[in-house]
Amino acid sequence: FRIAIFASGSGSNFQAIVDAVQSGKLDVEVGLLVCDKPNAKVVERAAAAGVDTFAFRPKEYPSKEAYEAAIVERLQKKEIDLVVLAGYMRIITDTLLKPYEGRIVNIHPSLLPSFPGLDAIGQALAHGVKVTGVTVHFVDGGMDTGPIIAQRAVEVAGGDDADSLASKIHPIEHEMYPYVIRAIREGRVSISDDGRRVLWS
Ligand code: GRF
Repeated sequence: FRIAIFASGSGSNFQAIVDAVQSGKLDVEVGLLVCDKPNAKVVERAAAAGVDTFAFRPKEYPSKEAYEAAIVERLQKKEIDLVVLAGYMRIITDTLLKPYEGRIVNIHPSLLPSFPGLDAIGQALAHGVKVTGVTVHFVDGGMDTGPIIAQRAVEVAGGDDADSLASKIHPIEHEMYPYVIRAIREGRVSISDDGRRVLWS
């Protein structure tokens, strides 16, 4: 069971998944990192971990369809079973979505459907919610929509700012994502017939 991880930035979730694999907690192969920012720290992490990388500059392609087709080609060549978005800051469109339908997951730092999109942590603080959290979900064509696989709650304290709240949320992401990938790998996660809900077994 081979996964590809897509990331655009620091890659702490990439690292958590790689660490879980290396320590024997997660029985998958990380076959590829896909990164739309060749200078991102996650590219260094992949090199250090010996993970092949496809780093590209979207501007060097004539269209989004063209770079997504280039991604699909690499995913197919590597026989990737599951696409794991971990801080990949781009909306996925049909070119990539169709061939991997039901096989793309994302992690988002809020309790969806609250606070989709950019800066979910800042949105939660601005709204004054007392509980926020982390969601892992299947990806569809929307922005952080798609059937919810798992959620964990995080309390927001009176004195929290973006940094302190992020430092509560990130360790939960790092624990949760390998756990959910493992459940998918074990075939314990499926989507209901109406395509809206995730069923666990
Ligand atoms: C995480 O907070 C994730 O939920 C969001 O982007 C962030 C990525 O962080 N989608 P990192 O690059 O894994 O450190």
